[in-house]
Amino acid sequence: MQAEGFTFGFYDEPKSEQQQETQNTDPAPVPIESVSLGRMLKYIPSKLSYARVHGLPYKVVQRELWDVKIQLMESDSLESTPSELKLLDSANDLVPKVYEGGFKTWECSIDLCHEIKKLNILDRNLTNILELGCGTALPILSCFQEIYQRREPSTLIFQDYNIDVLRYITLPNLLLNWYFNTQEHDSSQEHGTINVSENLLQEFCDDFARNSITCEFLSGPWGPEMQNIIQQSYGSHYFSLILASETIYSVPSLEPFIYMLLENTRNIALIAGKDLYFGVGGSILEFYNRLQKAVSPEDSLKTVKSSFTNVGRSLVYWERLSIADSSAEPSSVKN
Ligand SMILES: C[S@@+](CC[C@H](N)C(=O)[O-])C[C@H]1O[C@@H](n2cnc3c(N)ncnc32)[C@H](O)[C@@H]1O
Repeated sequence: MQAEGFTFGFYDEPKSEQQQETQNTDPAPVPIESVSLGRMLKYIPSKLSYARVHGLPYKVVQRELWDVKIQLMESDSLESTPSELKLLDSANDLVPKVYEGGFKTWECSIDLCHEIKKLNILDRNLTNILELGCGTALPILSCFQEIYQRREPSTLIFQDYNIDVLRYITLPNLLLNWYFNTQEHDSSQEHGTINVSENLLQEFCDDFARNSITCEFLSGPWGPEMQNIIQQSYGSHYFSLILASETIYSVPSLEPFIYMLLENTRNIALIAGKDLYFGVGGSILEFYNRLQKAVSPEDSLKTVKSSFTNVGRSLVYWERLSIADSSAEPSSVKN
């Protein structure tokens, strides 16, 4: 796999001659796959190591990255190529169209969790949820926690560009957070390891089925092909809540990303991002302006500042009021 990676540095880094030569190499997009919870379970190892995530309004744990690396190194039926393993270790935040950054947690996902807390998703019936570019998936896992505490029937779709991110980080994070939300497990430790038996995995699946919590994992690039797959199972505008964090950094990806929002949002879309992504051109304002042109004037669309630090961070809040048979309660969120 040959592709140029980059970090989101805050200045224009000088490029070597070799980098300049390779920068027009455009790798083919990865294939699109849709996988059910049951079929994903074969990628869960017999032990999972986790750490508590700080700074959230929810008690959430996530799998340790070193634990993923060990699994990839030890795996017999390794589907990941050694170069994918190297990407995990590399200094690059992402490599466009090869690895889009989902293995690590980006700071805007924390902002999004705080916004979710204010939304009262259960009171407003926002229980069919799609997270676009989910990576470690803290926002949708925060929603899961609320849903699971009340055992509300729901649909949770986890989408990431890379299938390996869904297999080795997203799904383990869902399992870990389910585990610590079942009554008998104490999540007060900062770090730890859980044993994952066949029985535990069976109980995980049975519990989701019993409580009508449907989960699906969707990998690949945004666009009509991915939308066809969603459409076949759920139709258009199925999701009462769409979440996305740090998915607006690439200007060429804004169009397919907005397309996914327009096709799938029934009620609310919440998108968190940095005000400016240095060196790549994406920004909250660019995204907001494009979305504004695409949505109905009847809708509510606004930007809320979440941090005024060096690199500012914001949230774009879109409430689709133009769909007549909305099943959610009207908005109570004000500017
Ligand atoms: C910078 S990571 C952010 C991950 C996570 N949301 C967070 O904030 O921690 C960007 C995410 O967007 C997704 N992504 C980026 N471009 C994409 C594209 N063209 N099609 C589908 N997913 C894409 C990737 O899957 C990746 O996980």
